[in-house]
Amino acid sequence: MPSPQENHAAQRAFWNSDAALRWLRRQEETDAMLAPAESAAIARAAPQPGEHALDIGCGCGASTLALAARVGARGRVVGVDISEPMLERARARSINLPQVETLLADAATWDFPSESFDLMFSRFGVMFFGDPAKAFAHLRGALKPTGRIVFVCWRPFVENPWMAVPYNAATKHVPRPPRPGPEDPGPYSFADAERVTRILSQAGFAAPSFEKFEFLLDIAGGRGVDAAVESAANIGAAAGALKDQPDALRQNALAEMRAALAPHEKDGRVELAGAVWIVEARRA
Ligand SMILES: C[S@@+](CC[C@H](N)C(=O)[O-])C[C@H]1O[C@@H](n2cnc3c(N)ncnc32)[C@H](O)[C@@H]1O
Repeated sequence: MPSPQENHAAQRAFWNSDAALRWLRRQEETDAMLAPAESAAIARAAPQPGEHALDIGCGCGASTLALAARVGARGRVVGVDISEPMLERARARSINLPQVETLLADAATWDFPSESFDLMFSRFGVMFFGDPAKAFAHLRGALKPTGRIVFVCWRPFVENPWMAVPYNAATKHVPRPPRPGPEDPGPYSFADAERVTRILSQAGFAAPSFEKFEFLLDIAGGRGVDAAVESAANIGAAAGALKDQPDALRQNALAEMRAALAPHEKDGRVELAGAVWIVEARRA
């Protein structure tokens, strides 16, 4: 079993690898796909004009921009991320917003000024810490005593057909990668509300609330089933399974993915269901 330090190093390497470049290439489609979940989480966080917010694992910066619009010119948003290429995109997108700062740093250990943020927010960026209880305890110290943390994270894989349908098709031809352990980081590592409650409680937060939110993700971006296959082959679980596979197996997997996704196509859209938690906790 990898140690928290090994998990952490693996995450840093992953988010600075060609995976990050694939995120960059698909940034507009990804932002469109995730927009409903982001809007629901922002509505829950209710950033107020003048507030100071931290966007954890801000990636290419979509939620940083959404927060900046809400806190306005008198407020402040720090977008923090370990991925140099993704953060560079966030920086370019926010260049004309003086209230935004982008910070290339590990949110789990960076020395943020203590009790300085009203709000900590994340769109799918808090599930990758090697030692999450320690990371959240550290982050909590940078929240004002009245502050809150609000983040959106995936519910279990089986409740997310947008990810499971292409993955199950691909893995009829390529091996299933080893499943992460229950305490390992990963996109579905916060699917279990009890685990998230334990982590946040250990970190010193008050008992969190969990809101269920479901939405449809058009994984084709309106461009038909081939675009849907391309999307699934580049980002997410199917992409992970296809990585480094021999071309013949890969081609069979792509054809199987196409066959599985084609019945979901309508007017160029390939919409499949996604399920997330919107989690909120007070500093306590
Ligand atoms: C699934 S992506 C989400 C990116 C972005 N929030 C979005 O919704 O498009 C996860 C992000 O978390 C970042 N990340 C992972 N571990 C991190 C850490 N310890 N500190 C800061 N960012 C981290 C990754 O680099 C990546 O940008």
